[in-house]
Amino acid sequence: MGTKMTRRKFISVVMAAVGLLTLKGAFSFTSGSSQGEKIVTDIFPSAQPITIGSAVLGRREMVWLVRDDKGYYALDRRCPHLGCLVKWEEGHFICPCHHSKYQVDGSIFSGPTGKALAAVKLELDEKGNMIADTSQIVSRQWRLKV
Ligand code: FES
Repeated sequence: MGTKMTRRKFISVVMAAVGLLTLKGAFSFTSGSSQGEKIVTDIFPSAQPITIGSAVLGRREMVWLVRDDKGYYALDRRCPHLGCLVKWEEGHFICPCHHSKYQVDGSIFSGPTGKALAAVKLELDEKGNMIADTSQIVSRQWRLKV
């Protein structure tokens, strides 16, 4: 009887630990940090130059910042197909895993993906840095004018 109780307790402790780890993983999915109520997924320093028609990665390499003639916008780097991180290559985005390609605005160009790259919220902080938040999806036409 004593051995069975010990086993039960051990299994209960293991199950509780697995549950806590699962919850922690669910809440840390964006791998960002919190600034008040904002989730900061990536940061683009104010001094970072970017020309129209090009894309740069943020400090955390989770979001692409793109500039066009209407302003700036941010695209989640995770490929909607299976989550690999897309690269910028000669005017479009390409996924290294299964070669889906996306237009500069994140819309689908070709490949197995069924969804466009997510356009995410971008705003300025008090220091003039651009802050991207992948937990907030915005319209593909949305632009930050600076
Ligand atoms: S994960 Fe990007 S195409 Fe499959």
